[in-house]
Amino acid sequence: MRAWRCTSSSSPQACLTLRSDIPSPQLPLARGKILVKVSHASLNPADLAFMSLLPCWLPFRRHPTPGLDFSGTVLEVGPSLPPGCEIKIGSKVAGAISQWDVGVGIGTLAEYIVVDAAQVTLVPDSVKWLGMGQAAGSMGIAGQTAVCMVSSGAIRKGMRVLVNGASGGVGGLVVQICEGLGCEVFGICSGANKDLVVDLGAIEVIDYKSHQDLPKYITTRFGRSHDDNMDVIMDCAGNQELYVNSPQYLKPGGKFVNIVGGWSQGVVPFVRNKLRPVILGGVPRDYILFLLAANGLLSRQVAEYLETGIIKKVHTDSEFEMEQVAEAYEKLATGRAKGKIIVKVAS
Ligand SMILES: NC(=O)c1ccc[n+]([C@@H]2O[C@H](COP(=O)([O-])OP(=O)(O)OC[C@H]3O[C@@H](n4cnc5c(N)ncnc54)[C@H](OP(=O)(O)O)[C@@H]3O)[C@@H](O)[C@H]2O)c1
Repeated sequence: MRAWRCTSSSSPQACLTLRSDIPSPQLPLARGKILVKVSHASLNPADLAFMSLLPCWLPFRRHPTPGLDFSGTVLEVGPSLPPGCEIKIGSKVAGAISQWDVGVGIGTLAEYIVVDAAQVTLVPDSVKWLGMGQAAGSMGIAGQTAVCMVSSGAIRKGMRVLVNGASGGVGGLVVQICEGLGCEVFGICSGANKDLVVDLGAIEVIDYKSHQDLPKYITTRFGRSHDDNMDVIMDCAGNQELYVNSPQYLKPGGKFVNIVGGWSQGVVPFVRNKLRPVILGGVPRDYILFLLAANGLLSRQVAEYLETGIIKKVHTDSEFEMEQVAEAYEKLATGRAKGKIIVKVAS
């Protein structure tokens, strides 16, 4: 089969090779596993981090295949699928692979993959506008992260929510889910993406590039009174100053949910923002930082948001052919993607 392989730990352009001589997964399948013919994959910033940080010479992860998100058709099912699992041969499924799969070099930029059935969910066929590319883009890492952010922030109808990085893969879905659940959503992105974020459901968008001191502007805009303050801030771009200054515009008892761990993979922000007591200079606002463990229950929740019309669109930045993966990663690495970057894997 065809699959992309990483041959060194460096940039995608330098380390990626498309091979067409990779052995297809072996049958019979183990318990709880399914064989999927991949239709589409979608890219995430984590792919780049894994490529540069995880060694690709280890015996159990030699020349790994990149990619986390996928959609495709089930070709074979192993014995003992989880109870109640509706997946059968011919089912259309989507999701993201597990951390364990990443650890042993399995990736979704391959024509066929074997994954745990518990890792995926059925693509909802009642959502007519949802193509398989959009299914990969929404039901994988971005959508599952958005679901976790919304539950970490304990989002409820009537809340005021500020989303930083609102035009990205995760942020765009967070905006839609919060708006769909009845919140007043405010977005932060560059001016070029303002219309997109309004279209996703934000009632007001702040262009971070037009304010030299963003927290100061947000204080002026949302710091006037308790009612004006935010209930929750969702940070999909990792702006530490936004948290440090949050007592000016985030209600006492409000939550600051961040998903960007930075170079320390979350250790530094966690220690600085979560463990430091207020008496030693800590910020008196609840700080939440998590690392997603992708699974089928989370992709099922995304599917429910799609089915109920809470997620109304999956904004796609661009779609690339299988041969153009290095180019697609180059686009992702700019940090300027407007929504998801999709790769059409099936020829
Ligand atoms: N903790 C976890 O489990 C987890 C899971 C998923 C993702 N993440 C992390 O979350 C971040 C977002 O992921 P993603 O998939 O949404 O990435 P993405 O789609 O590549 O995000 C790109 C977007 O980020 C915006 N952006 C860039 N710099 C910004 C800034 N300084 N302020 C506000 N917006 C900015 C860009 O908008 P403009 O061009 O308008 O600036 C662009 O639309 C990444 O760092 C990723 O690694 C963490």
